[in-house]
Parts: sequence; structure tokens; C-alpha cells
Amino acid sequence: MSRRFPFAGRLKQLPPYLFAEIDRLKQEAVKRGADVIDLGVGDPDLPTPPHIVKRMAEAAQDPRHHRYPSYEGMLLFREAAADWYGDRFGVVLDPATEVLTLIGSKEGIAHLPLAFIDPGDTVLIPDPGYPVYQAATVFAGGTPVALPLYPSNGFLPDLESIPLDVLRKAKMLFLNYPNNPTAAVAPEAFLAQAVAFARKHQLILCHDAAYSEMAFDGFRPASVLGIEGAKEVAIEYHSLSKTYNMTGWRIGFAVGSAEILAGLGRIKTNVDSGVFQAVQYAGIAALTGPQECVARARETYQERRDQIVQGLRKLGWPVEAPKATFFVWAPVPDRGSSTDWAARLLREAGVVVTPGVGFGPAGEGYYRIALTVGKARIAEALGRLASLRL
Ligand SMILES: Cc1ncc(COP(=O)(O)O)c(C=O)c1O
Repeated sequence: MSRRFPFAGRLKQLPPYLFAEIDRLKQEAVKRGADVIDLGVGDPDLPTPPHIVKRMAEAAQDPRHHRYPSYEGMLLFREAAADWYGDRFGVVLDPATEVLTLIGSKEGIAHLPLAFIDPGDTVLIPDPGYPVYQAATVFAGGTPVALPLYPSNGFLPDLESIPLDVLRKAKMLFLNYPNNPTAAVAPEAFLAQAVAFARKHQLILCHDAAYSEMAFDGFRPASVLGIEGAKEVAIEYHSLSKTYNMTGWRIGFAVGSAEILAGLGRIKTNVDSGVFQAVQYAGIAALTGPQECVARARETYQERRDQIVQGLRKLGWPVEAPKATFFVWAPVPDRGSSTDWAARLLREAGVVVTPGVGFGPAGEGYYRIALTVGKARIAEALGRLASLRL
């Protein structure tokens, strides 16, 4: 398409949007009036708990909150985040310097490379992975280097196999456990290895823990900051989106190295003006209030996981039961391409799943199912899949 105003080179450098075909097929099906079951999006269908909504409603009435918030977040919110962190992970944080409020963790991920990456620097990112690590690297002029996540290694990157010439130019390493899209979890020994590796090679270690609270069967994911010495080289991203069903509210936080957070904060002061204070009060209510809502959400996702895993296995389709996240990552049963498979499920069953290759080349051969619809719809989806002939 010829444009009057061509996009900047950095937009052209982004990888092709591999979900476009599925999006198109989905829109077509919806237009036709088909009953589409969307197991594609990682957006909780459960509502935000009422006590959080109530706090927001009260705070929104107060004119003191109608003005610009502080860039780094209200100290009250950062104290609540630090206390929550201490209770959950046993890590003590200074709310003034080791906690930064974010407009959702995506915002903090997207802005971090701008603070530390120059053209010519490389950033190590997981493949398959949450696409923002790559986009953020490209926007900062850096070069993303993919770390493939293979099932044979529990979907953990093999850090020791990264060539030295790559490491010499590398400044940053993104990791994400519990992992989107593979749903893998990281043993604490791996986090310790990653911290030692980051220290040895002078890397900023960014651990995205957006799904830390969405774990099953009693499993409790660890924080990278629990590893000795991590605070000198690492930050960890947390999100209220998944934990409290607050995706639309846009609030999260980063914790860890004061030096790294100061760099991110510098960027933020120049591009945004913080989180609406009423939303921060809602966030405080979430972090300091009753936590039964989180336990209930976990139970709901666990039941859905069991239903999907049992259902797929009954069809003879191989699948591992994930220990965390609200995703199931399964090999394409006919061993064909993940895009063809996703297109076929949509065309023949009206079921949307996400092709693994959309998260990076190493995701090929897999597809992702989100556990974000109720059990009746999952049963309906499984019924439709049963009538597909492989
Ligand atoms: C791995 C991962 N990190 C971060 C995010 C961003 O979450 P938010 O910006 O809502 O906090 C998501 C959202 O899907 C995600 O999957």
C-alpha cells in the first residue's frame, strides 16, 4: 500500500503480525453470525472483585485525585506493593526506590530498553515469548536475539549455549515464568542460574512475573529477587491484571534494583504522567484486602484446565497439564503448521486458538488455548473438536 506518510523504519522492523490471518477469519465468522468460542485471548472473563470496584468508585469522587498523579506512583501504593511482596516472597523492598508503579506491566516492559539499550546492543529474549520484549528492543534501536524454549529443556533457555560474541554485545535478558505462551514454570535453581549468569555477563535481568499468582495444585512460583544478589542486577514485573482480574484498569509495578528502576522512571517522566490515583487506591484495596478472590480465580482456572486437558486427551491429542498461567500449550495433533491448525479449528469448529508460531519461530508446531471462558463453553468447544477428522 502506498502511504502519504510512510511509517518509520522501526515499525517496518517488527516481525510480521502472524495472528492477522486468524483475526481475519474470526471477524469473518462473527460477521456471518457464527457462534465463535474464543480460546485465543489471555484476558480473564471473571469480573474484578466488588471491594476493589467500590474503592475505585469512592476514590473517583474525590477531587484530590483528579489532578496529575506523581510519576513514580503514590508512596501509599508503593508501600502496599512492597508489603504484599514481603508477605508473598519474603523479600524486603524499599518502597521509595525499589518499587515503581506502572500503567500495567506491559508499559514498563515496553519502556525499559529505551533507558538502557543503544543501537548495536543486543537483548536476549525468549522464543516463543510475549511479543512486547521484541518490539521494545526494536523501538530502542537494539537487536533482539532469540533464546529458543524447547520442551526437551522444560521450556527454559539454555543460557550456557549462548555464543560469547553474542554475549559481548548483550545488555539485557528477558525471562518470563510462569511463562506465556508455554505455561512452563521455572525451578528456583534456574532462577539462581539466571542471576549468576546476569552478574557474570553484566546483563540487566528482567523477570516478567505477570502470572506469579495463577498457579495450580498448590504450586507457588518463586520471585527472582529471592535469589541472593539478584537485587543488584534484576527487576521483576508484577501485574494486577491477572491476579485481580483488572486487565482494563491498567496498573502493575516493577520491583528490584533501584538503579534499573531509576532508568525506567526517567523514561516514564518523559512519556507518561502516571496512573490515575483512583486506580492506585483500587490497587491498594486489591493488594491489602482479602485474598480469597485470588484463590477462587485459581480454582476456577484449575477446573477449566482439568476439563480441557482431559477433553483433549480423550480425543487422543497430546497435552501436558500446566502448573501455572491460564494457558494450555499443546503440540499440533496432525504435526502440521500451527497457523493451518488454528485456521482449521476456526473454520470447521468455530473455535479460536492461537498459533504458536505467532509467538516466535520456536513456537511452531504448538498452539495455545486460553482458559478464559466458562465450563459450559469449554464443553461445547470440546464437543465440536470431537467431530473434526484428523
Ligand atoms: C507475559 C506477560 N507479561 C505482561 C503482560 C501485560 O500485562 P499487563 O500490562 O496487563 O500488566 C501480559 C499480558 O498478557 C503477559 O502475558
